[in-house]
Parts: sequence; C-alpha cells; structure tokens
Amino acid sequence: MRQETKCIEGGYTPGNGEPRLMPIVQSTTFKYNTSEDMAKLFDLEATGYFYTRLQNPTNDLVAAKICELEGGTAAMLTSSGQAASFFSVFNLANAGDHVIASSAIYGGTYNLFNVTMRKMGIEFTFVEPDCTAEELEAAFKPNTKVVFGETIANPSLIVFDFEKFSTAAHKHGVPLIVDNTFATPINCRPFEWGADIVIHSTTKYMDGHDATVGGVIVDSGKFDWMAHADKFPGLCTPDESYHGITYAEKFGKEGAFITKCTAQLMRDLGSIPSPHNSYILNLGLESLAVRVQRHCENATKVAKFLSENPNVEYVTYPGLEGDKYYERAKKYLPNGTCGVISFGVKGGRAGAEAFMKKLKLAIVATHVADAHTCVLHPASSTHRQLTDDELRACGISPDMVRFSVGIENVDDIIEDLAQALA
Ligand SMILES: Cc1ncc(COP(=O)(O)O)c(C=O)c1O
Repeated sequence: MRQETKCIEGGYTPGNGEPRLMPIVQSTTFKYNTSEDMAKLFDLEATGYFYTRLQNPTNDLVAAKICELEGGTAAMLTSSGQAASFFSVFNLANAGDHVIASSAIYGGTYNLFNVTMRKMGIEFTFVEPDCTAEELEAAFKPNTKVVFGETIANPSLIVFDFEKFSTAAHKHGVPLIVDNTFATPINCRPFEWGADIVIHSTTKYMDGHDATVGGVIVDSGKFDWMAHADKFPGLCTPDESYHGITYAEKFGKEGAFITKCTAQLMRDLGSIPSPHNSYILNLGLESLAVRVQRHCENATKVAKFLSENPNVEYVTYPGLEGDKYYERAKKYLPNGTCGVISFGVKGGRAGAEAFMKKLKLAIVATHVADAHTCVLHPASSTHRQLTDDELRACGISPDMVRFSVGIENVDDIIEDLAQALA
C-alpha cells in the first residue's frame, strides 16, 4: 500500500461482519478463564491484554497504522509527545550514560533533556545542527548511548542532516532517534535515511484537529542490539523485574525495543493514552495525507506572499526557494516540508505586536501544525519575560512571528495577512 492508502486502511483489517472502524475498547481490564492463561501473559509467553496501563487493543491498532506509515516493525502510543521523547531515550540511557542531541529541537524536549533528565544522572551534549563531521565526532564519549535530532525543528525550521548524524551514530554503535513530528511520514520517512527509532507528538498534524494530546514511538527493527550488547545491558541481559527475560534474545531486533519500553517503562510510569483519544487520533490519521499536502501547498503560497511584502523583514520556510535549508529539504523531503513558517514584521517588537492585534482569521495560540491557521508572537507571549538581547541569544528576534498555516482557502489566509501587515 502507498502512504495515502495506509492512512485509511493501515493497522486494522476487520474480519467478516466486524466493525468497519476500529472499535474503542474502553476497558481497563480483561477477563481470563484460568490463572494459568493470565500467567502466560505476565511471562510474555503469550500475546494478549490484561490491563490498559500497559497495552490496549485500540491503542495498538492505531500504533500499528503509524508503524506501517513509518515503515517500522513495532510501535507504541504514549499519552503525549513529551512521554514519547522521554521513553525513547530512557529506554536506552540510564544514570551515568551520555546522550548527544542536536540543539535544533523543540524547546520542551530541550528542557526535558537539559533539566529533568540531567537530574536523573544522564549527561547531554547539544551540538549545532550544522556542525562539521569532526565536531560531531568529538562529542562522542565511551558512555554515549543515543543520538537525537528533529526532522524539521520547532520553531527554528532547521532541516536535519540525517546522513551526517546517522553515519556518526552507527560508527559509534549507537542508534539515532528522530522526532518526525513536523514532517510526518507523508513528507519524510527517517528510517530510509538511517534513523533507527522515530517519535512523534501526535498532537500536531497526526491528530490535526486540536482534539487530543498524544505521542508515538516507532522502531525500525534495524538496530542490532546484540552486536553492541556491552552498551545496552537493559536489552541484552536478563531483566530480573520481568522473570529474567532478555529482550533482544526473545524478541529480536524487530521487537526488543518496544517490548522493553512497554514491559518496563509503561508498566512503571504509566503514560498510556485513553483508548477514546486513540480512536480520535485514528480519525485524524485517515486524512493525514490529504491534509499535509494541502498544508504544504498553502504554506508555500503564504511564504511566497510574505517574501514579497514590503512590511516583512525576512521569511524562514524550508519549502521556499532561497531558504538556507531549501536544498536539504528537497533531498530529504521532496514532497513538501510542513505548514509552519516564521517571519519578521517590520518595526521590531512593536511592529509585530501591532500586526498580531489586526489578524482576524489566524487565531493566537501556542499550538502549531493543525487544521486551523494559528499564530504566535514569542516576544509578547511565551518569551515575554526576556529582553530583546536575551531573545536574540535564544535565536528569536523580537519581531519574529511563528505562523502555522492551516488548510482553509489560502486566499483567505493571505487576505488576512495582507490587511494586518498593511
Ligand atoms: C516537535 C515536537 N516534539 C514534541 C512535542 C511535545 O509534544 P506534546 O505537546 O504532545 O507533549 C512538541 C510539542 O509542541 C513538538 O512540537
């Protein structure tokens, strides 16, 4: 099946007389005839469900659809994108380990790594996304366990140099994890460019309708844990908290990572989505391919309009010819990039504030990557406590507006921008 078809048909094939749409199994618990039947599940000897904190049939069907879209071998849903980022790294790196991350990642991920996970004893090195291969090489340590990046970074819109990062990670025997939220598997399939594990905030384009917060982790099944067993004892030696199972032996390259993540992290930390939310996410996934195409068409027209408007200082959009990342985007994302644009309004902070007040269609929101066009002026909202100099130090200019182009008629979006800029 092609991507558009997988969005509709993936993950779930009803049998004769079964519901066409995947059912919501809104049950915390599952009934068994004998204790022996249940014991097999606890020992991971049989597949099945016993308690929704670990796994639920609706969640698994939706995860299976996203797994097909990414071209992976196993996947699990989480209750948020943050949980997916945390689980994906914590499944491999423990206290005393080291992780390399591109500095061009979502601010929430940066904070998770740099503050919360540091407190857990994991060390992080952030490297410039456009560092040289030598600079990247120098960041590795004997205890490095993971390399992490983001396909199109939120909000800098820097396109990830997959080949540079995956080559370095594999040379050092560690996997590359990529946050593919902004690109979606419609526009980029990181496994084809060397990534080993992909995560998403499904809250963005996958849901696409402001309806549910969620995340997903997908494993490519390509990373050979046993070949680097000394680095990954959690996967390659017996798990005493799970009856001495060695995940990499029992579930192979294809299943070890997600089984461990479910059996240990979901069991202990419990960040499972509600089956009802997963059902809503699936409705969003059905139209993902058509929506993403429309987001990109609209955003390309909006970016062009902005680049020609005299009241606009600059435009950043990797789908716009002349953008610093246009050529890299053409290589890794040939069908389109995303719907998010950033631009500067003439007149600095005051100019941007005045512009924001005049918008009529675009709604002011911290959210992005959604059917509705939404807009944020970081200097007067999320980053309002910072001075102009402090803002520039975090790569945000005082006049910068982040504009998430929706799937409305693009002429209405452009007319709204035109009158507000005027
Ligand atoms: C690229 C990216 N990754 C991860 C997240 C975190 O996802 P969530 O808000 O679903 O926890 C976000 C949220 O904005 C994001 O934009």
